[in-house]
Amino acid sequence: MLRSTSTDRGHARAIIPRIDQPVATSTQPLTRSRVLTGYRPTGPLHVGHWAGNIENMLALQSDPSRECFFFLADWHMLNTHYDRTDELPGFVHELALDWLAAGIDPERATVYRQSDLPEVAELALLLGTITPLGWLERVPSFKERLRDMAERDVANYGLLGYPVLQTADIAIVRGALVPVGEDQVAHLEVSREIVRRFNRLYGEVLVEPQPLLSETPLIPGSDGRKMSKSLDNAIWVRDEEDAIRASVRSFITDPKKVRRGDPGRPEICPIFALQRKFSSERIDEIEAGCRSGELGCVDCKTILADHLIEYFRPYRERRSELAAEPGLVERVLAEGAEQVRPIVRETLAAVREAMHLS
Ligand code: TRP
Repeated sequence: MLRSTSTDRGHARAIIPRIDQPVATSTQPLTRSRVLTGYRPTGPLHVGHWAGNIENMLALQSDPSRECFFFLADWHMLNTHYDRTDELPGFVHELALDWLAAGIDPERATVYRQSDLPEVAELALLLGTITPLGWLERVPSFKERLRDMAERDVANYGLLGYPVLQTADIAIVRGALVPVGEDQVAHLEVSREIVRRFNRLYGEVLVEPQPLLSETPLIPGSDGRKMSKSLDNAIWVRDEEDAIRASVRSFITDPKKVRRGDPGRPEICPIFALQRKFSSERIDEIEAGCRSGELGCVDCKTILADHLIEYFRPYRERRSELAAEPGLVERVLAEGAEQVRPIVRETLAAVREAMHLS
C-alpha cells in the first residue's frame, strides 16, 4: 500500500479522470457519477481554500453529469481538536454559511454533516477490524500531523484511525469519485486497499472509490509557505476591506527588492502567485513592472488588495444576507442528511449482511 513509485503515479495519471472531463458525452446516455468530498470545520475559509477547493466544488455541482455529496467532517475535526469541542458548533455553522455564500447550492449538491449519520461510525468500526496497523502508521499525513502539532497531544487512536473513518465516509456513499490533488492520489489508495480487503473477505459489497484529479494551485501565505490557518499566514475571504489590505501588506516579497526601482523576481514572490490568480487580466504588466523595478512592492500589493476586495465582495454581501436568515443552516443540513440517509442505510445493511451481523 501507499506505493508511490513514479511508475505507479504515471499509471494512475493515465487512468484517473480529470475534474474537467465530463463523464457523459453527447453520444452517451447521461449517467451521473457520484462525487464526494469532506471538509473539516476548523475555522473560517481562507483564500487558499477558495482557489483550491471551493472553485472545484462549484464546477462539480454545475456539471449535470455529476451527483455531488459535500459533507462537513465534524468527527474528523475531533482528531486534532478534541479539547475544543465547545468551538465545534460554531465552526460547523460558519463553514456551512461559508459554503452557501460561496454558491454551494443544496439544490444541486447534497450538503450534510458527518455526525448526523451514525451509520458512518458503524461502518468505520467494522472497517477498523480489517485494517492492518502498518497501513495506518505509514500514511504520511499521520506523521506530519504528529510533527506539525508537536506542542499538542494528538497522538491518539482517533488520529491514527482517521483513514479508516475517511474510508467509511467514502464507501458508504457507494461508487464515489473523490477529488484529489496529484499529491494525494496515494492517500486515497489506503481507502481503496481497505475496500478491496473487505470485498475479498466478505464478498463484493463495497465499491472501490476512485480519485478524480483536480487542479489545486499552490496558494502561498504571508510567509511564503502554503497558506494555512495553523501557520497563521492566511487571508480570510470574509474579511472586510481594511483587514484584507492589512493581510496583504504583511506578505513577504522578494528580499532583494528593497525599494521601488530594484528589479524583482516574480517567480519567488508570494504576492505574484496571488496576482496570477486574482489579477490575471493585468498579469503581464505586473510581471514586467516587477522585473524592471518600475512597479514597487507597495503599489503591487495595492493592486492585489483591490482585486481581492472586488473578487470577494459578492461573497461577503451574500454571507451577511444568509447569516440573517434564522434556521437556514440547520434546515440545509437536516435536508441533506435526509437525502443521503437512504443511501448510507442501504450500504450498511449490505455490509452487515455480508458479515453475518444482520
Ligand atoms: N481528510 C479531509 C481533510 O482533512 C476531510 C475528509 C474526511 C474527506 N473524509 C473525507 C475528504 C472523505 C474527502 C473524502 O480535510
